[in-house]
Order: sequence, then C-alpha cells, then structure tokens
Amino acid sequence: MIRAAILGGTGYGGMELLRLLVGHPGVEVTALTSRTEEGPVADRHPHLAGYSSLRFTKETEDVRLRLARENDVVFFAKPHGVSAAELPPLLEAAADARIIDLSGDFRLPDPSQYPAWYGFEHPHPGLLGQAEYGLAECGHRDAIRGARLVANPGCHAAATILALWPLARLGLLRGRASVVSVTGSSGSGARAKAGTHHPERFTNFKAYRPLHHQHLPEVLHALGGEARVDFVPHSAPFARGIHVTAFVPVGDAGDDEVRAAFADVYDDEPFVRMHAKSPDLRACVGTNHVDVCVTPGDGTAVVTLAIDNLGKGMAGTAVQNLNLMFGLDETAGLDRPGAGL
Ligand SMILES: NC(=O)c1ccc[n+]([C@@H]2O[C@H](COP(=O)([O-])OP(=O)(O)OC[C@H]3O[C@@H](n4cnc5c(N)ncnc54)[C@H](OP(=O)(O)O)[C@@H]3O)[C@@H](O)[C@H]2O)c1
Repeated sequence: MIRAAILGGTGYGGMELLRLLVGHPGVEVTALTSRTEEGPVADRHPHLAGYSSLRFTKETEDVRLRLARENDVVFFAKPHGVSAAELPPLLEAAADARIIDLSGDFRLPDPSQYPAWYGFEHPHPGLLGQAEYGLAECGHRDAIRGARLVANPGCHAAATILALWPLARLGLLRGRASVVSVTGSSGSGARAKAGTHHPERFTNFKAYRPLHHQHLPEVLHALGGEARVDFVPHSAPFARGIHVTAFVPVGDAGDDEVRAAFADVYDDEPFVRMHAKSPDLRACVGTNHVDVCVTPGDGTAVVTLAIDNLGKGMAGTAVQNLNLMFGLDETAGLDRPGAGL
C-alpha cells in the first residue's frame, strides 16, 4: 500500500481527499493534520464516519518532517502562500517523499508573477522549475509520472484549460477566447468569510475579479505560445461544481475540424465525456469526470464544460496524479458515477 499523509485536513480539499482515498484499493491514509483540531476526523467530517477511524494529528514543523519521512506521498491542502514556505524543507528532509500541492504556490514557473497574482514574493523561486503541472489530459501525463513535486491545477484553471486545450494545441485558437466560468461556494474553502458565506451567496449571482483572477496566468502558461484569453469568473448559488462557457475564435476551421480536435484528445481519456448537448453540472458532481460539449459556429466554437471543483478541480485530479506518480491504474479510487441529483 502507498502511505499518504494529508496536511490541512479540516478544509474541503483535505476532506475530499480522504473521502476518495478511503475507497482507494492501493492507498492508506496514515494521517490528516490540523493546527487546531485533535479529535476524531469523523466528528469534523461526519459523512466519513465508519470509513475512517483517524484522529486529527496536531501539526507542527516537526510533525510535517516526520510525516514526510514516514509516508510515500504528502498532500498539501492549505491556502496559498503556506506551502511555498512549508513544503521545501520536506523535499530536503525526505529524499523519497513525493508531494502534491493543491495550492497555487508552485503552479507558475516564473517567480516574478507571484507578487502580482498571489500577493507574495516566492521564497523558493529555484524550486518552481521542478514542479510538474498536474493536468494529465492536457499534455502533462508523462511528466507527472516521473515527478517528485506536482502542482495541482486551480479549479477555474483546470476547467478553462480543458475547454480550450484541444483547439489551442492545433493552432485553432485564432484570436482572443472569452471564458465565463461559474463556480459554487465550496470554491472559497471551508472558512466562511464576508462575501463568500452562505447568506451572501445562496440568493446571489455575480462576477468577480474580471480579467484579474489569479488562475489566468496558469491558463495562459498551460495553453502556451500566443494564447489570449479574457477570463471572467462568477459565483453562483450552489455548493459544488464549475460550469464553463468558452467562446473560441476558430477562423475558417470547419465544423468537422473543430469536432475532430476534441475527439483526437479526449476520446481515449478515462475521465472525459464528450456530449452532443451542453452538460448538466450535477452529472459530474462528486466525480472526477469532465463533461464537454463543443458547438461549432460561424468562425466561433462554443465549448461548454462542467467539472466538480472539489473533484476534477482539486482532490480528484490530485488522486489521479498520485496514481500516475506511483504507476497505479490512473482511475484507481476514482471510477464512480455521480449521484445524479
Ligand atoms: N475549494 C476549491 O474548490 C479548490 C479547488 C482547487 C484548489 N483549491 C486550493 O486548494 C487549497 C485548499 O483549499 P480548501 O478549499 O481545502 O481550503 P480550506 O477549506 O480553507 O482549508 C484549508 C485548510 O488549511 C489549514 N491551514 C493550514 N495553514 C493555514 C493557514 N496559515 N491559514 C489558514 N488555514 C490553514 C486549515 O486547517 P486548520 O485550521 O485545521 O489547520 C484549513 O482547514 C487552497 O490553496 C485552494 O486555493 C481549492
């Protein structure tokens, strides 16, 4: 069994990682940490009662180092700016440990982008080149297999890249793409804040950080070259899921060429489901699936795509990356349908 420790276990990322891994045939979660909680994990995450008898491990620097030495893989499920400081000592102290970081701290290869997009100077710029971007479907599968440090994608970023990648890789993104990405409230994490907690969100719908969301540089880097994207995230009154509508200028590319671009990359992908009509968000909630529909038009292709922000947008992809890093079946622990409602 692969031994895994999850740091940041009271949050949504830690919670969803544990939910997926208690059903994984090749992984044992040995510890779930918290700075603040020490009781049974199932008290905090009651849906896992009967599936995990773990208690939270009180996290300190020494505990992190010990867990890195005693486990095969460590997940960082903490806010931006934390793993940039806490993760590098683990790489040094535990030569065999692999690390999957759910935050944005190792996603951008250029350290000069961190102050502008994340609001901090990166303390370990030399490590950014060592992190592999963890989105297997979009050209990173082989690099993830050999990686010691994987930077798991952002949720909006994963959805947007998956929508644009099939056309961008063939040079069919001919101009500036416009992306509307709508997320549920779990995207803001488990701690209620002004503007993101339930009373503020459940009757509301709004755009936020238009053209300035921190996932944009990650999208542009993943698409490569000259890609240009106008990206506008929205907050919607549901808990889980992201729905993207992308308007992609494709020049004179024909309908069959546009459809073939998606079939070429996604027909053999285990988690991507191509649909003839626009996907329902709820069909992918609780899963690692990517539901996609492409509608070619006159010079523009419209791509609609749905993922679960806590699944393919975070913990599901992290488990998929673990499977690749350790040579397991890529779908292990992840092959399940959604609840449907
Ligand atoms: N939510 C999403 O849809 C989503 C999707 C993709 C990626 N991500 C990224 O994944 C990471 C985890 O997200 P999440 O939604 O799980 O966040 P979350 O619900 O807010 O949980 C983060 C956890 O980190 C722990 N923590 C450790 N150091 C901390 C610090 N200095 N300040 C605050 N909390 C600290 C907290 O646990 P204790 O207080 O118990 O120590 C907290 O429960 C974030 O970087 C996020 O941007 C989130």
